[in-house]
Parts: sequence; structure tokens; C-alpha cells
Amino acid sequence: MSTDKLIIFDTTLRDGEQSPGVTLSTDEKVEIARQLSRLGVDVIEAGFPVASPGDFNAVKLIAQEVGPLMEGREGEGRVGAPAVICGLARCTRNDIQTAFDAVKYAPRHRIHLFLATSDIHLEYKLKITRAECTQQIEEMVGFAKSLCADVEFSPEDGGRSDREFLTKALAVAIRAGATTLNIPDTVGYNTPQEYGDLIRYLREKTEGADSVVWSTHCHNDLGLATANSLAGVSNGARQVEVAVNGIGERAGNTSLEEVVMNVHTHPHAYPVHHTINTRLLFSTSRMVEDLSGMAVQPNKAIVGRNAFLHESGIHQDGVLKNKQTYEIIRPEDVGVTTNNIALGKHSGRHAFRIKLDDLGYASLSDAQFQSAFTKFKALADSKKSGVTDGDIHALIADVRSTP
Ligand code: KIV
Ligand code: ZN
Repeated sequence: MSTDKLIIFDTTLRDGEQSPGVTLSTDEKVEIARQLSRLGVDVIEAGFPVASPGDFNAVKLIAQEVGPLMEGREGEGRVGAPAVICGLARCTRNDIQTAFDAVKYAPRHRIHLFLATSDIHLEYKLKITRAECTQQIEEMVGFAKSLCADVEFSPEDGGRSDREFLTKALAVAIRAGATTLNIPDTVGYNTPQEYGDLIRYLREKTEGADSVVWSTHCHNDLGLATANSLAGVSNGARQVEVAVNGIGERAGNTSLEEVVMNVHTHPHAYPVHHTINTRLLFSTSRMVEDLSGMAVQPNKAIVGRNAFLHESGIHQDGVLKNKQTYEIIRPEDVGVTTNNIALGKHSGRHAFRIKLDDLGYASLSDAQFQSAFTKFKALADSKKSGVTDGDIHALIADVRSTP
């Protein structure tokens, strides 16, 4: 493979779990982590160990049980190594030590440190100066490095930080031992152009930039998280921080499945490749939906219930003749195997006939078919939510019982 590998860093269990109303039990977190490992995720951010004893135990258990797993990670084009298990920490000794004590059981482990760098966060939240900020970065990245070879640093609210100051703060982090620099657009404020430019600028102007992996971390407040992450990739980022179904604080994080399928669908547009088993995307999405209780919107790209359904007669006719008329992704490539014809008031005879064949009614007479189609159209007109297979069975029973 001649392109660079895009590292998929999943934060479903940390930033994703920060979604209002979502609380996952330890068993549920371990189950999701196992699935993320099978999916081929490169780095699993398992939690924020200092946040509570429950968080600490979940991260430790994931490090012990999922950290060594190789299932699904070997074979053609796959990762060939277990996932890195990562724990988040603020820039304090206690946070860092606690994160390390939780992740150290995994054969491959990482500490992820963050400290805000924007003036608004420094002045109002942290009440420290820029000089104190860089000093804290130097000391705490250095301390993390003394425990762990793999250290990631994030300047929180990087998307709204002063660029020149950011280059200085990040150069300090590199000198102190950071191996990955992650640039959060914490409040989802940037445009794709701006965020892409920021990644390029930082890579060009930060001393020591070539010795680290640059990473994106985008929030979706303006619906731009995926576009911004991809703009970052186009400008040299080689890690993306994402969450399954895009769950996370407020409007959420960048969606894992959207970034992966963009890179997958446009291999010439992005200078990277991924090693995710895309056929597990749909089942992973459903697992996270069930366990988190965060429903996936039906029209969500890639994993929404309607993502591969065609309702209008013209579209159904096209897809029945050649799927590529209206499908840019093969549903089976993301693990969707169900019939992609949604019967509704816009459906035509062709789609209705195929549906009847699928349901075992291929032997209806022409008159019965005509009668069934008329009844179906009347039903579809009166039903808001579409016609189900159960409706069709009832309708055929009615046609058959009519002399
Ligand atoms: O959005 C953010 O800034 C974060 C950091 C902790 C990386 O989640
Ligand atoms: Zn975040």
C-alpha cells in the first residue's frame, strides 16, 4: 500500500460517553471495546480514569481484557497488532498517574493529556497566563513521558487559539516527549477551510513537527465535524479522533463510519488508507445505539435505517436495473444485508412485484396482482410510516379471500 496509514482513534467510550443522558456500565464498555478491536480501530480511548472509580475500573478492565486481543486484526491489509488502549488525563500529576495505572496492563498503551490554549479558556476557566500554560505543558508531558512512551497532547479549544502561541505550546509538548499532537475544535466552530489551514500551518511552523503524528478532533456543532476532519487529513493529519454514530458532547464528535467510508469511497481524494473492517460498521453502530440508548437518526449517513432504502418509483426502478444508478456504496460493504426496497406511496409496479416475489407471492394471477397493487397504493397513501412486510401479507390474504 503506497499511501500513509490513517490511524483511527475511537473515543466512543470517553468523549462519546459524555453525551447527555448516556451512562454505560463497565460490562457494556468492555463489550463495545471488544467490538471496536474487532472492527480494526487502532486506538481505543477507553475513558477518563480519574473521573470516578467506575471509570478507572472500566479502563483497567479494557486494558487487561481487550488490550491483548488480536481477533479480526490480522490478515490481508489488516492491522497486525492489538489496539492501543488510551486513557485521558488533565495536566496534573494525579490525573496522569491514575491514567497510567489504568492503561498500563495493555500491551500497547497511551496517555492522552489535554490543557486549554485559547485565551478565553486561559483567562476565564483556568485563570492562568500563556507562560504558565506552556510551563504546565512542559512539566506534565515530561511526567507522562517518564511513565509511558506513547504520549498524546491536545491543546483544548485549539480551533480558537492564537496560532502563533499554539506553535510555541506545541513545540514545548514535542520537546517534552509528546508523540501525537491532537488539535481539537472543541466547540465545533471552525470551517473546513480554516481547520485544514490550521493543520497545515501548525505542521509547517511548529519546531519538531515532523517527529510527531498530527491528529484531528472535531465537534459537530455546525454539522461540519466530518468535513473538518477530512480537511485535516488533506492537510497532513494522519490520525482522526472519532466516535461511533458521532455521539458525544452537545451535537457530538466526528462520526467514525463517515470518515472511514469517505476515505474508502474516494481513495484518490485522500492520500491515506485505513484498516477498518467496514463490514462491521453497521453492527457496531447498532450495538452502540442499543447500549448507549442514543437513537441513530433514520437518515444518518452510512448507518441510518434509511441510508440504503429507495422509496420513489423512479429510484426503485433504477436500482432494480442497476444498483449503481442510485447507490454509491454497496450496502453489504458496511454490513447492511436487508432488502433495500422501501414500499411507500411513491413505489411503482416493478418494485411491488419484486417485493411480492421476495415475500413468496410470485404465483399471483394477473388479476390478483392488479387488485393487490390497487389496495397497496390506497394503503400507502393513508400510511405515514411506509408499508411494512406485515401490511403486504395482510393485503395478499385479503386479495386471496376475495372471489
Ligand atoms: O473536545 C476536546 O477538546 C476534547 C479534548 C479533551 C481532547 O475532547
Ligand atoms: Zn472532544
